[in-house]
Amino acid sequence: MTPELHNLAQHVLHGLSAPQKALSSAWFYDDEGSRLFQRIMTLPEYYLTRAEHALLRERVDELLRWIDPDHRPLDLIELGSGDGEKAVTLCRALHARHVDSTFRPIDVSAHALAELSRRFDEHLPRMALKPVLGDYLARWPERSPERHQVVMLLGSNLGNFDQVGACALLRRIRTQLRSGDVLLLGLDLVKDPRVIHAAYDDSRGVTAEFNLNLLRRLNRELGMNFDTGRFSHFASYCPLQAVMRSFLISHVTQVVHSTVLDREFTFAPGETLHTEQSQKYSPESIAELAELSGFAHTHLITGSEPRYALAIWHRPQDAS
Ligand code: AVJ
Repeated sequence: MTPELHNLAQHVLHGLSAPQKALSSAWFYDDEGSRLFQRIMTLPEYYLTRAEHALLRERVDELLRWIDPDHRPLDLIELGSGDGEKAVTLCRALHARHVDSTFRPIDVSAHALAELSRRFDEHLPRMALKPVLGDYLARWPERSPERHQVVMLLGSNLGNFDQVGACALLRRIRTQLRSGDVLLLGLDLVKDPRVIHAAYDDSRGVTAEFNLNLLRRLNRELGMNFDTGRFSHFASYCPLQAVMRSFLISHVTQVVHSTVLDREFTFAPGETLHTEQSQKYSPESIAELAELSGFAHTHLITGSEPRYALAIWHRPQDAS
């Protein structure tokens, strides 16, 4: 058993044995899950990707002034880069300013990194590119001693963690930075709950397939026998906590078995399996998160309709 499969098995054993069944959305992204997420990003309801890309395009001068005011050589590190569609916009602008920069994307998907390399070959053939295949939670791209680091965590990916998890990740990122290094976060902002809800419950049912694909992955990798026809996608936004949550609802009483775990799990009719959360932010909650995780909150670029933010943080001088 590979270490990854072992982790998945342990995770599923705990997650399906708890009174409130829950699995982490980190497991959504097998090859099919990554493909479905790429489709989600093109859906009319899923505004996040377009809103973020528009900010990166339209506010790039402002962004670069805060990220790299004196045009120092830099390592641009993107955690979970995907196919690099947004990074190419930023890298182009850096290149145009003759900033000596190396782009170090890290992603779990070999397919996405291949696409990224192709994209950079086409649009930015002279940009130094050092992709890393792996999980950014587990490893960090090589550090060069003399270059300033700019780390990007875009796509509101931070929103998948609850506050404790987000702080833990941010603190770990901080330990990789030297004082003055930059963290750039793309974060979805609180807005009309109906707009948020629609983004996670699209009319074509792609998000539902994305959610159900987790069960297909468990069938394949843990020898399980989920009948995906007996579960439905359910997405719910809570304005009080500004969090979007996704579940799978069991239609009937059903027993699911795993040959790898040699265990059975029973679902009651109407029972929910919690599969994802996507935190939404306000300018105040972003500043609070910076404070809690030991960053200096330097600048916030916000766009309207739909509201979205790019937060620029620094590792402060005195932090340990
Ligand atoms: C990639 C985690 C940012 O939470 O908005 C999209 C994933 N889930 N539709 C998000 C997702 C359902 C997405 N993130």
